[in-house]
Amino acid sequence: MRLDVVTIFPEYLEPLNVSLVGKARTRGLLDVGVHDLRDWTHDRHNTVDDTPYGGGPGMVMKTEPWGEALDEVLADGYEAGAGAPALVVPTPSGRPFTQELAVELSSRPWLVFTPARYEGIDRRVIDEYATRMPVYEVSIGDYVLAGGEAAVLVITEAVARLLPGVLGNAESHRDDSFAPGAMANLLEGPVHTKPPVWRGRGIPEVLLSGHHGKIARWRRDEALRRTTAHRPDLIERTAPEAFDKKDREMLSILGWAPDPEAGRHGRFWRRVEDVEE
Ligand code: ADE
Repeated sequence: MRLDVVTIFPEYLEPLNVSLVGKARTRGLLDVGVHDLRDWTHDRHNTVDDTPYGGGPGMVMKTEPWGEALDEVLADGYEAGAGAPALVVPTPSGRPFTQELAVELSSRPWLVFTPARYEGIDRRVIDEYATRMPVYEVSIGDYVLAGGEAAVLVITEAVARLLPGVLGNAESHRDDSFAPGAMANLLEGPVHTKPPVWRGRGIPEVLLSGHHGKIARWRRDEALRRTTAHRPDLIERTAPEAFDKKDREMLSILGWAPDPEAGRHGRFWRRVEDVEE
């Protein structure tokens, strides 16, 4: 896979040399290019922004540097034989970044990222390239960062670990929290390793039992416990068929029950008497 990032802070992308993404690069699984947007400015101050039409606070990134930069980066990639490019535009007004989108992006041969600073990029730039290639406007969460570079790091890491050969074990994605196509999306429960006692704290007995069935059940119960506590929306969204008898017992202990109005196919909701006012 080829990745290009055009940014006014190339040094912000240094982490792409480290750890999983860095290793994927040295192993030739990822070809990463980081480009300084200011290389495509022509004035003494290397200006990349200007005041917004219509007034208002902040500055807007100008069309010309972005247009020249993207034309050149795209031309270079085509020359190098990269496949069909897609533009990834990190913005708090984009669609939410999810594991499903990470999987979709990981199947593309070439991603070009345009992290913005200030109030964003002149809309005409996005509209122009959208006529030539798929454009993904992506938000990594409901908060506003000072710029899109941190979002590029987040998206890149989530995508890179899905590439064939990057993680040791291809099976490992299947059990990821949020793996698309999973019957129920549950958060993963707690994990433990040696020593068996640390500061007086032991390991849950069942994990030492060697009984695979019981261990799997315990893990599932812990996943249900965590998901109900941290992400009740995931439980509410799950088709009830995804919960087996033991799941239902655990959900009941945790204060959840099928929606009584919906009959046998009702999704699970926190029982009314347990919901704090
Ligand atoms: N740029 C600023 N905030 C962002 C967010 N939440 N996601 C993606 N890009 C951003």
